[in-house]
Amino acid sequence: MKHDNVFITRLIPQEGLDLLKRHCTIKVNPEDRQLAKHELIENIVAQQGLMCLLSETIDRDIMEAGSELEVISNYAVGYNNIDIAAATELGIAVCNTPGVLTETTADLVWALILSVSRRITEADNFTRQGHFRGWEPMLMLGCNVYDKILGIIGMGRIGKAVARRATGFSMKIMYHDKIKLSDADETYLNATYCSIDELLRYSDFISLHTPLSEETHKLIGAGEFQRMKPGAILINTSRGQVVDETALVEALENKQVAGAGLDVYEEEPVIHSALLSMKNVVLLPHIGSATVETRTKMALMAAQNIIDILQGSTCENIINPQALTIRK
Ligand code: DGY
Repeated sequence: MKHDNVFITRLIPQEGLDLLKRHCTIKVNPEDRQLAKHELIENIVAQQGLMCLLSETIDRDIMEAGSELEVISNYAVGYNNIDIAAATELGIAVCNTPGVLTETTADLVWALILSVSRRITEADNFTRQGHFRGWEPMLMLGCNVYDKILGIIGMGRIGKAVARRATGFSMKIMYHDKIKLSDADETYLNATYCSIDELLRYSDFISLHTPLSEETHKLIGAGEFQRMKPGAILINTSRGQVVDETALVEALENKQVAGAGLDVYEEEPVIHSALLSMKNVVLLPHIGSATVETRTKMALMAAQNIIDILQGSTCENIINPQALTIRK
């Protein structure tokens, strides 16, 4: 294993690099920029391991260029950037970093809920620009969060962590997922299982927590915006392609929705230009898991995933265990 080579596509917290260095030879992209496909192909040659990011598409061409590749460790919980079917067929294990970013991402969802509803970024700009002339009865009126209904689509780890925080705001939760929670969890979270249509009709805030798949691609489009409760606010920290961004812009322009808090975009890093000038929209640069503590845990987990697979040990975070039986 000491002779295994691992390519890391971007600089990650040092703790993860140090852990890997104890077990294999690492090569880190020295430039602080995303590599083009041809550069990924050049760098993957003679590597047994690859650590990559969700913004990098790892397709069959790249995997085939890495003829010695045994493991791809995604520095993320989502793995829609990787062709899992191709990896499995080629006997390459794919791993992710679940669990460690749950609470941090849920915190960011709440930052967005509060920022949009209480107009925080708009008010901050207003103040900095010298417009504050003293207390005014009609200045920067937002909407309450307390006692409202929060709709959660995708009640997995992050969805539940968001719901848990909502109990402190006396909110009711309406949620939709493939799997219904236990009665005890529903009671604890003040949550009611419902169809997406019902959730759209009654929720004051709608937060998306589904992975990106064929099923969830553009799950929220023009029809869904029309069915939302007037004044609803959309929060998306999952994947940009879960929302039809053009339909979102139209819904905001037509005031079908009152605002949006977005951490992810359909064509990242490109953002629909109309969103950039909307005051009722808070835009973040995909920072759901961006705290020192969490990114360090992700680095350690992503590194350990590589070590486990290359050592032939059990890896809890393997997405395609079938690949191990097809090993080259
Ligand atoms: C993930 O891990 O999938 C997140 O989007 C990273 O912040």
